[in-house]
Amino acid sequence: MCRQLGIEVPVVQAPIGSAATPELAAAVAEAGGLGTLALTWVSAPEAVRRIRQVRRLTSRPFAVNLVLDFPVEELVEVCLAEGVPVISTFWGDPSAVSARVRPAGAVHLHTVGSVAEAECAVAAGVDVIVAQGCEAGGHVRGEVSTMALVPAVVDAVHPVPVIAAGGIADGRGLAAVLALGAQAGWLGTRFLTACEAATHEVYRQAVIGAVSQDAVHTRCFDGGWPDAPHRALRNSTLSAWEAAGRPTAPDRPGEGAVVARSADGRAWARYQDMVPVPGMSGDLEALALYAGQSAGLVHDIAPAGRIVADIATRAAALMGRAPVNSASP
Ligand SMILES: Cc1cc2nc3c(=O)[nH]c(=O)nc-3n(C[C@H](O)[C@H](O)[C@H](O)COP(=O)(O)O)c2cc1C
Repeated sequence: MCRQLGIEVPVVQAPIGSAATPELAAAVAEAGGLGTLALTWVSAPEAVRRIRQVRRLTSRPFAVNLVLDFPVEELVEVCLAEGVPVISTFWGDPSAVSARVRPAGAVHLHTVGSVAEAECAVAAGVDVIVAQGCEAGGHVRGEVSTMALVPAVVDAVHPVPVIAAGGIADGRGLAAVLALGAQAGWLGTRFLTACEAATHEVYRQAVIGAVSQDAVHTRCFDGGWPDAPHRALRNSTLSAWEAAGRPTAPDRPGEGAVVARSADGRAWARYQDMVPVPGMSGDLEALALYAGQSAGLVHDIAPAGRIVADIATRAAALMGRAPVNSASP
């Protein structure tokens, strides 16, 4: 699968929403992994700008992620027109995208949370399945853990390659999912504290300070993306909502209150689907702090290239192999 994607090490920087910058995707690509932009919520011109920015920073392959619960047809066309080599999709039926991506010669990855969903994706023509365990950060598709889901999906879709997502933060996790039959690891939470990620210091320190139990599976932060379970760090918003008995909108504590503003003045209300990014001001701790159980394994802020190299080197050593990445120390 690495050959198919044109990468050297089986490490994928997951799409992590607004935190996924061109600089992050390019740094991961330069280290031999697959970097990903998350472009669902940007305009077509902004998507073009970010894709070209990655290209300016690296000549290596990278991916663009689109969430199918939103209207992304125009963005698919933009990606294909720009020659994006890998398109990743999540949350929905991938058939329409697959029908466009395959003739264009790009590789189509689709994230699933169950064996049934994986089988549907393969029938739809998807090239690579991303099996996301429920310990993952951000929006969580299924109810099964990575350890149980990955081998079941590998068996069900063989010979279609599978990437494992959820709970992987270091070389031990990568070696483990490779042993389960996955061909790469897909890491989101680990890259939240990469130097190149667009994560505010408040968010980074929350991830670094968290233990795994702090990453709660919930429906609390539903503003902008309703009916989509997700995993986020326990914070003042989540605690107050739980203490109130988890009431439904609009009867939640502090409903509608503006808790933070972007540098351009854009207001963000409590319960909105937005993480703290650089330049924001306000009560940033109260925003959605999406992160997975692997937050308990993230202890530092580091350049993305070093994160990739460390994971690849450690996994290779555990598996009794020399690292295949020329960029590794
Ligand atoms: C802050 C954040 C934002 C995310 N945004 C997206 C997204 O836009 N598209 C997507 O397919 N997955 C998204 N995810 C899920 C990741 O792609 C991935 O499945 C997950 O992070 C893997 O689990 P881990 O966090 O334990 O590494 C997001 C995850 C996080 C933590």
